[in-house]
Amino acid sequence: MSNSYKISILGSGRVGSSIAYTLTVGGVCSEIVLVDIAKQLAEGEAMDIIQGTPFSNSVNIYSGDYKDVAGSDIVIVTLGRARKPGQTRIELAQSNVDIIKSVMPQVAEYAPNAIYVLVSNPVDILTYATLKVTNLSPNQVIGSGTLLDSSRLRSIVAEKLGISSRNVHGYVLGEHGDSSVVPWSLVSIAGMTIDAYEKAAGFGEEFIQEDNLMSMEKEMRESGAKVIQNKGATNYAIAMSVRYLCDNILRGGNTVMAVSSLMTGQYGMEDVCLSIPSIVNSSGLVKTLEPQLKEEEVEKLLNSANVLKNIISTLEF
Ligand SMILES: NC(=O)c1ccc[n+]([C@@H]2O[C@H](COP(=O)([O-])OP(=O)(O)OC[C@H]3O[C@@H](n4cnc5c(N)ncnc54)[C@H](O)[C@@H]3O)[C@@H](O)[C@H]2O)c1
Repeated sequence: MSNSYKISILGSGRVGSSIAYTLTVGGVCSEIVLVDIAKQLAEGEAMDIIQGTPFSNSVNIYSGDYKDVAGSDIVIVTLGRARKPGQTRIELAQSNVDIIKSVMPQVAEYAPNAIYVLVSNPVDILTYATLKVTNLSPNQVIGSGTLLDSSRLRSIVAEKLGISSRNVHGYVLGEHGDSSVVPWSLVSIAGMTIDAYEKAAGFGEEFIQEDNLMSMEKEMRESGAKVIQNKGATNYAIAMSVRYLCDNILRGGNTVMAVSSLMTGQYGMEDVCLSIPSIVNSSGLVKTLEPQLKEEEVEKLLNSANVLKNIISTLEF
């Protein structure tokens, strides 16, 4: 393997270990450090993955302490408590903010130049908390945000249309959670708007009917909880999303994706982290985009920002 990138993953639970496995299989980096307060768990996960590497790319995977994150190109944060069936992401907020407060200042000192990818929930709040409790710059701190939701939306639309999800582009914006927003005006199928694609494919008008779009939105929003209900956690799709994000950071992809970052006036939003389309490269999140949205879509986005701000106002950082 030719690259020599180092990625540290804080938290070796289902999400952290799945990310480590996915990064290994994808040949994204040459070194992975797993850190968890459950040291035996981190050690076991590292051993299990490394024992498969004769059949994959050569990656050095080991468990370590916070000091071992030094020299990381990327630090991925998956530690904390996960959502239980029926529990909202927000209910997790203060306990995971407290973990961020105790862990991130020291980690940021060991790896001041890394790009930080927040995954733990509530991800927008913890992205904000990380910026609050460290001196990291806003471009260095990226929340996976609605990257997963956008991928779920693309999969659902693709399934309905019977085409590859690679031909479906679109974003879920705002909170990674119940107040997320689907700007249907930005969805495109093979370079066409949805209605143009419908005509091109001879579908008639049934697909773009409001009911249909709303039911796809609902399915997207509820699918995470449904996976948790069925198997107790979500880990594979988030691992694949994070691998895509890391790959684009390390290879300087200049790729547009919906991820969470600190708002500084976009659409009139400030002092809150949430997802809007953004350009990611090796310097992190280098630019946010403000595509033109319909008036009601902007309203929903501002509502999502307010939902998050109201939660922030109840938390101690
Ligand atoms: N952003 C997304 O799209 C998305 C998707 C799935 C899961 N998640 C979130 O990812 C997080 C992890 O989920 P999971 O299923 O892996 O949970 P998990 O319980 O399996 O793993 C969490 C790990 O964090 C460790 N941990 C707790 N406190 C720690 C500390 N102070 N230092 C080091 N390690 C610590 C625990 O020992 C545990 O192994 C959750 O917050 C979950 O909600 C986010």
